[in-house]
Amino acid sequence: MNIPNHVGFILDGNGRWAQAQGLTRSEGHQAGFESLRKLSKYIFDKGVKVLSVYAFSTENFKRSKQEVDFLMNLFVKKFQEYGKDLNKENVKVVFSGIRKAPLPMEVIKIIGEVEALTINNTKGTLNICINYDGQWEIVDATKKIIADISEGKLKQEDINKELFNRYLYQELPPIDLLIRTSGENRLSGFMLWQASYAEFYFPSIHFPAFTEKDFDEALAIYNNRDRRFGGINEKKTNC
Ligand code: FPP
Repeated sequence: MNIPNHVGFILDGNGRWAQAQGLTRSEGHQAGFESLRKLSKYIFDKGVKVLSVYAFSTENFKRSKQEVDFLMNLFVKKFQEYGKDLNKENVKVVFSGIRKAPLPMEVIKIIGEVEALTINNTKGTLNICINYDGQWEIVDATKKIIADISEGKLKQEDINKELFNRYLYQELPPIDLLIRTSGENRLSGFMLWQASYAEFYFPSIHFPAFTEKDFDEALAIYNNRDRRFGGINEKKTNC
């Protein structure tokens, strides 16, 4: 079995899952959070080195104040404990996104604490995208590059794809397998740079119902894909 090095995961469908169960949207997010805790452990145990999850986009701030407040409070209440668990599992936690308002100060503080706690861990890296937008990530990297050029730290001719990657919110390898639950077939701004050659998998299942078995299914599908990266699979071609 070929295990993807970097898995991207768009955690979608908490609301629809809750509605189908006769529960509130908040209960859906709570269930989604518990699902993430279980699943992240399983995914790192499988040998995946980097797991990036889309927890909250910049656009998600357009939701009702009640829903945004619930999600931010959930983060504040639960993330220190989750961070400690990840630390015990030797997983490093990093965050991608814009670290300023409207993200609450308390959330920004916990982000810093969890990153500091887990900085030396080596089993894998959990990258949590919060107040994140992939186009902004590219714009912000460009601004940092321009600043370094004008301060004389960098020359224009040194810019290439590897260098650009180092200026993103986190320096990560390319995404190999990208999963979005809930049957939506779009990226919604998730890791546009890193997903350049990712294999996409869009199961119809809602995120809180996505289990370890479903991840195994995603791995089986990934293993049947023919990844050519623009080249030709010599073994399968008759010329
Ligand atoms: C998408 O479902 C999910 C989110 C916008 C939030 C995902 C968050 C978690 C799994 C919890 C962990 C993260 C934090 C910040 C505590 P949706 O609400 O768009 O579902 P719907 O499309 O069915 O309405």
